[in-house]
This record gives sequence, structure tokens and C-alpha cells, in this order.
Amino acid sequence: MEYSEVAPYYDKWCSGDEDCEKTEKFYLEILRNAGHCLAEPGVGTGRVALKILEKYDKHVVGIDRCEEMLDICRARYAAKPHTGTLELIKDDFLTFRLREPADCIYIPFRTIGHILSNPELLRFMKNVENNLKPGGKFIFDHYIFDPVWAEENNRKDILLYQDEKIRIEDSTDHDFVNRIVHCTVKCNDVVMETITFRWLEVLEVLELVSASEFSIEKLYGGYSFENWTSTSKNQIWVLSKNGA
Ligand SMILES: C[S@@+](CC[C@H](N)C(=O)[O-])C[C@H]1O[C@@H](n2cnc3c(N)ncnc32)[C@H](O)[C@@H]1O
Repeated sequence: MEYSEVAPYYDKWCSGDEDCEKTEKFYLEILRNAGHCLAEPGVGTGRVALKILEKYDKHVVGIDRCEEMLDICRARYAAKPHTGTLELIKDDFLTFRLREPADCIYIPFRTIGHILSNPELLRFMKNVENNLKPGGKFIFDHYIFDPVWAEENNRKDILLYQDEKIRIEDSTDHDFVNRIVHCTVKCNDVVMETITFRWLEVLEVLELVSASEFSIEKLYGGYSFENWTSTSKNQIWVLSKNGA
């Protein structure tokens, strides 16, 4: 299962990504007024969800298929008091069912890229829609693919984290035809695992949205709420379920 081996190192690994802290701050801000019942597919170690629950009196349902990531999230939640409440469900993006429809379903830090085909992405959007209240929000982000960076850095080891005990590197092997990235994570020169994801074009998302029951509320180009432009490095979508 992807992330099983990486789980103990996940937070350290992703701390080296320039968008790690930015995503935390962005979701903390945008979810402040997004209603009480939230859900995060791909909650992982709870990096974002637990920050929300520390600060706000909300209920977050975290969904993930990786038991090792969920175990870390569960232990962190139990380790200290939180303002809000957490429920964890071990399930897949395409099949999860919430007990109550959510006010907002959010999926931070390019996690939507783990859904590798557009038909599956549409199935995921349908599942999100089925689990939202009418007028509920669906928020997700991804980077804008940069072919120059990808060519220059393809298969190169990049240092993401280092302390006295551990050095974490990753390398991204781009499949430019199928628009898929195989990201290999190494700890102290030992390969932990390879995780696969894809990049998404803005036009593809527009097509998917028009085939769904969502309307576009906002497209940001950065985690400081910048408007999206053709030179933006990120795409952050705020959709709302029709029928409010
Ligand atoms: C990049 S991590 C993101 C974790 C967290 N949201 C964050 O921002 O740090 C992606 C997470 O999505 C989970 N995941 C990937 N594909 C999934 C799927 N099809 N169903 C459920 N969880 C999935 C992985 O197990 C992993 O925990």
C-alpha cells in the first residue's frame, strides 16, 4: 500500500516542500467559515486536519486507505486535547460514505493527483458530491506542471529533510507521455517506496467540472489567495455543489 513505508517519515519529508506550510495556512483560513462538518479524503497523518481541530470547534472526518498513516493521525489526535472532534474512516476516495453529508470536503497538498485517470476523477467528484450538503463546498489544489523544472530535475535526488539522524531525499521520474510522476523516497540512502501521482491541466479540470454537478466559485493561483493567471504556479479550486 502506498505510504505504508513512508508514513513514519511523512511529515519530515513533506516539510521540505515549499508548499507544505503554505497549504496548512491556506486551508486553515479558507475553512474557518466553511461550516461545522468537514471531510478530508487522504487525511494522512492529520497534518492539516489536526491544525483545524486545534483551532476550531469543527467535526472533521478523515478518510484514508493507508492504515499506517491513519495510525499516526489517531495517535496525534489522542495525544492532546483539541477544540474540535475527529472521526477516521479507512476507505478509498471512490467508495467512502459519510454518516452525515458534509458542509465542505477538502483535499489538500495535490492529493487529488493520486487519482490517475479522468474517468476515475469524475467518479471521485461524483462521490464527493454524494457526500456533500446542497451548496456544500469542494476545495482542492494541485501545482501547474512546469516542463522546464521537470526536465531539469528528472530522476535527480533532491534533499527534503536532514537532521543528525536522518536524511530524506526524493526523486521524481516523469512519464511525460502519460503525464504521471513516480516519486521515490529515500531515507539515509535506503529506498522506502515509490509513490505515483499525476499532474492536471486547468483545462482538464474545467472539463471535469462541466461534466459534474459542481459550479466554480473561485480559482486561486496561489496559497495566499492570489487570483489564478496563466503564469500561476498552482491551481486551487473552490467548487460548490449545485442545488443550494
Ligand atoms: C500526500 S498525502 C496527503 C496527506 C494530508 N492530506 C496532507 O496534506 O499532508 C496523500 C494521502 O492520500 C492517501 N490516499 C491516496 N490515494 C488514496 C485513495 N485512493 N483512497 C484513500 N486514500 C488515498 C494516502 O494514503 C496519503 O495518506
